[in-house]
Amino acid sequence: MPKAMKVYEVGAPSVMQWEDVDLGKPGEGEVLLRHTAVGLNFIDVYFRTGVYPAAGFPFVPGLEGAGVVDEVGTGVSDLSVGDRVAYASPPLGAYAEQRLMPADRLVKIPAEITDTTAAAMMLKGMTVQYLLRQVYDVKSGDTILFHAAAGGVGLIACQWAKHLGATVIGTVSTDEKADLARKHGCDYPVIYTRENFVERVKEITDGKGVPVVYDSVGRTTFDDSLDCLQPKGLMASFGQSSGAVENFNPGVLSLKGSLFLTRPTLMTYTARREDLVAMADELCSVVTSGAVTIPINQRFRLADAIQAHTDLEARKTQGATVFEV
Ligand SMILES: NC(=O)c1ccc[n+]([C@@H]2O[C@H](COP(=O)([O-])OP(=O)(O)OC[C@H]3O[C@@H](n4cnc5c(N)ncnc54)[C@H](OP(=O)(O)O)[C@@H]3O)[C@@H](O)[C@H]2O)c1
Repeated sequence: MPKAMKVYEVGAPSVMQWEDVDLGKPGEGEVLLRHTAVGLNFIDVYFRTGVYPAAGFPFVPGLEGAGVVDEVGTGVSDLSVGDRVAYASPPLGAYAEQRLMPADRLVKIPAEITDTTAAAMMLKGMTVQYLLRQVYDVKSGDTILFHAAAGGVGLIACQWAKHLGATVIGTVSTDEKADLARKHGCDYPVIYTRENFVERVKEITDGKGVPVVYDSVGRTTFDDSLDCLQPKGLMASFGQSSGAVENFNPGVLSLKGSLFLTRPTLMTYTARREDLVAMADELCSVVTSGAVTIPINQRFRLADAIQAHTDLEARKTQGATVFEV
């Protein structure tokens, strides 16, 4: 019987338990997927802690993985047993040796991309695709601010933004993370645990500010991020690793220069199959061309997910973290 990590109640990483799961056969439109690698994402922490509610308990966390199709259900025409596939999508359930998955959420992995890289890049890389290419179309000559620049999403974003011709200002908590961000295309790492990032952005942009801020840190950076924007600039608030932004008054957007604010999610941007495929294709092409690499700095066994969550929440990780199955 396959094993999976199950969450019986919200709480600390220790609420996760490695247990047998009974999957049954794939239903209509589903495949049985044997994972070879699974991605760790901060959203897994939000579900485990109850910031985002799961549909019920116990649940198996995880939204990103890669593997091989072991069995196909009825009505699945474009996938066959043995296909190498990857995904970044609900339903929850990636922290498992095997799982059932809707076929229309899967994409085939090009031969040049390993399963481990696919599991590390699908959620984080497609997030970068929609942030840099759809939420705001980053152009050559733009200077952008990207928070948590040495994280899983952050290191991909630095490289991709550089590839698009932008100048990248990125915040990080330590000197070591600053070095890593710099090596991945961040022109100006700012150590926001000791430097004032608003002042640094103003210095770097000759007082103009940036046209877009990508803020996944949330509570501790949100207000100051708005002060980094040019008039009519765009704030993409796409996460809350430091806690939720509360009591926001939209009048602030007018006072600070007719700003725009969006709170986007990957799930909205990939809801239509054709968008999912186009975004995955663009991600695969920047990775296979070598323009963007997928740095995997931590590897764990799925059974050690408790340690992986502990490290992610303690800001100890850099780049992507992958579970090898
Ligand atoms: N909306 C979407 O579609 C979407 C999709 C994917 C990811 N996200 C969001 O993007 C962010 C990055 O995701 P990721 O999986 O790649 O994680 P990550 O960036 O590898 O890890 C989170 C990073 O946030 C920073 N951070 C700042 N304050 C923190 C705090 N109080 N506690 C913990 N971390 C803190 C840390 O970097 P420093 O040590 O350098 O500060 C930490 O390494 C997350 O907020 C996630 O929810 C959103």
